[in-house]
Amino acid sequence: MTKLIRSIKGTYDILPENSGKWQQLESTIRKIAGQFAYEEIRTPIFEKTDLFSRSVGTETDIISKEMYSWADRDGSSLTLRPELTASVVRAFIQHNLGGKAPLQRLFYMGPLFRRERPQRGRQRQFHQFGVEAFGSAHPEQDGEIISLAFSLLKALGLSDLSLNLNSIGSPECRKNYRNALQDFLRPFLSELSETSQKRFETNPLRILDTKAAHEIEIIQNAPNITAFLTEEDQSHFEAVQSFLNALNIPFILDSKMVRGIDYYTRTTFEITSTSLGAQDALLGGGRYDNLVEDLGGKPTPAIGFAAGMERILLAMGTMDESTPINTTDIYMVNLDLTGLSVAIKLTQSLRQAGFDVQFETLRRSMKAQMREANRSGAKYAFILGETEIQEKTVVIKNLNSGEQETKSIANIDEIIKNLTI
Ligand code: HAM
Repeated sequence: MTKLIRSIKGTYDILPENSGKWQQLESTIRKIAGQFAYEEIRTPIFEKTDLFSRSVGTETDIISKEMYSWADRDGSSLTLRPELTASVVRAFIQHNLGGKAPLQRLFYMGPLFRRERPQRGRQRQFHQFGVEAFGSAHPEQDGEIISLAFSLLKALGLSDLSLNLNSIGSPECRKNYRNALQDFLRPFLSELSETSQKRFETNPLRILDTKAAHEIEIIQNAPNITAFLTEEDQSHFEAVQSFLNALNIPFILDSKMVRGIDYYTRTTFEITSTSLGAQDALLGGGRYDNLVEDLGGKPTPAIGFAAGMERILLAMGTMDESTPINTTDIYMVNLDLTGLSVAIKLTQSLRQAGFDVQFETLRRSMKAQMREANRSGAKYAFILGETEIQEKTVVIKNLNSGEQETKSIANIDEIIKNLTI
């Protein structure tokens, strides 16, 4: 027997019965992004591996164990994008977007790939909606980005949200904090995992992102990064908080939140939903004021966030719900094989006039076709039997009222005018 080929673990199909709610989500996202004057950018699904390792950081889980990378035929290493900020920054530099306008506000939607252990709310191919604002280092930009995130989640009817906020300061602040964190962790070194021991030397802040319970307990007493903020970092952070207060957006200060990516500076944030279970992060983001320069562009401050679209649908409770978007107006019932070209032509005229028309191609009985017409949700069935073909007429049946009338096909314009959908 032929062996069936199934989809890859951690990936899934969005079937027609489910694609309606994806379209609704996408259209709400576009609406909110438009309200905030963000424009869409679409970048390739794969990029040079270096782009991600140089921006996300080699010590992160994403780069060290979750990338889908391969050697191309010319030997270069390519990778399916595990996140989109790096790609957007590459495009921003490559197309000199900063030279075109001092403030660039971009949004994107699309699939990403991370080789994580699949579970509810965590796939190996998943979708993100994200925004990135380039050009402003001011705290009102942080406030606007977070307010965009909240407006979207509110427009989608989500509640039970919690916003965790932190500042991880400028590089100067992090240098001092790094030393203090190493001093604190040194006595516990032998208790740390092998990965954390390595990170102790290379990137100790990453240890704060640990998922191991005994390490979480140790770092509970670690010094807080906020105590190391420079005066400017501190006043930026306070201004962000005052904008959030002005917007009535509640937040929790979480000084251990460093996020799983290395490019951040100053503000970092995450929004979680209590309805999600273990994978509760709906979205995450922050400032990355040095990334454009680090990747070879002119120094440009920036901030953004990305939201997991599957997780949004899970939190909305509609992930497993079927929401067909059937828009059939007319069902064409063909009973006479010699009249097929008449039926096809009539269907075309109706579609050109703007109606959604289902054309039956199974050559089934009258009973079967009428059953299907009723099931389709169409308002009208157009019936072409032997008599109608001979007389060049069509029976138009209103499927709601059951009323029907016979019309001459030559009067197609009048037929179209009288249809009320
Ligand atoms: P991230 O925190 O890695 O950030 O991902 C953002 C969101 O993507 C998460 O909060 C989660 O909702 C969703 N997500 C991540 N991994 C998975 C997965 N395996 N399955 C399902 N959903 C997932 C970033 O990607 C940054 N680029 C965000 C950003 C934009 N920072 C600045 N600008």
